Amino acid sequence: MLEPVRVRLPNRGAVKNALGRLQTVLVLGGTSDIAVATVDQLVASGARTVVLAGRDLNALETVAEPRRGRATIATRAFDAVDFDSHAPFVDAIASEFGDLDLVLLAFGAIGDQPNDERDPAAVVDVINANFTGAASVGTAIAERLRDQGHGLIVVLSSVAGEKVRRTNYIYGSAKAGLDGFFLGLGEALRGSGARVMVVRPGFVHTKMTEGMDAAPLAVTAEQVATDVVKGIRRGADLIWSPLPIRGVMSVLRHVPRPIFRRLPI
Ligand SMILES: NC(=O)c1ccc[n+]([C@@H]2O[C@H](COP(=O)([O-])OP(=O)(O)OC[C@H]3O[C@@H](n4cnc5c(N)ncnc54)[C@H](OP(=O)(O)O)[C@@H]3O)[C@@H](O)[C@H]2O)c1
Repeated sequence: MLEPVRVRLPNRGAVKNALGRLQTVLVLGGTSDIAVATVDQLVASGARTVVLAGRDLNALETVAEPRRGRATIATRAFDAVDFDSHAPFVDAIASEFGDLDLVLLAFGAIGDQPNDERDPAAVVDVINANFTGAASVGTAIAERLRDQGHGLIVVLSSVAGEKVRRTNYIYGSAKAGLDGFFLGLGEALRGSGARVMVVRPGFVHTKMTEGMDAAPLAVTAEQVATDVVKGIRRGADLIWSPLPIRGVMSVLRHVPRPIFRRLPI
């Protein structure tokens, strides 16, 4: 019997025609406020099928229901820390919905640093939810996109990983790991037709940051979604949201540690 032929489409680089081509979108962490805002903009730009995946099917249905009619919105169970389920999950989604044009990794957990930092199990939970889970499912998705010969992974990193601070070094270090992993994965996928875009938001007003004092240059989930869609359109590998936070982080990265330690951040 002949081996099946895998057709690899050429890497199209900038996805300028893309929002028309981004018909099937998979969202991991489908109840994330940033993800929901991004889905709304993708659907308005032509996405036809959206699969919202996450731990809480009832909460996912609450997101999906009012959006049905504008696109086909399905909900499926997914847990970022159930590592063994990741490869079968991606296979099942692909056999049910066909080629995945865009996969948005939006899950994450900020934890409770003052308590977590004395508790090894809590540290592992935060690192798994933000880094290990993303690396695991990201690898399964990348394999699928390689086989398709196209597709974009968009992953929500954070400026917290750009310069890890004393006050949230558990979450920050997990995001630093995630950021490096997905930049590297993007390099590994070059030439395959599949791509990665890493998103580094600053402080975003969402349920994750509810009750916290907003940092300078804070934005809404809708503003991040707008930046994500712009980044997709221009074929970016890495974006900041809002853009000016890039300059701030670039300065902070070079502040000597004894001075950085004294900054009220
Ligand atoms: N808000 C900010 O200031 C900010 C800044 C930079 C980066 N980010 C990143 O942006 C992403 C989205 O955050 P957000 O602000 O939109 O927060 P959010 O609304 O609290 O969303 C977080 C999402 O992660 C999901 N999640 C957590 N653990 C999971 C697990 N084990 N398996 C599957 N899903 C899990 C949650 O699902 P449940 O409904 O099951 O809890 C929820 O859908 C996160 O990666 C976050 O780190 C946020």
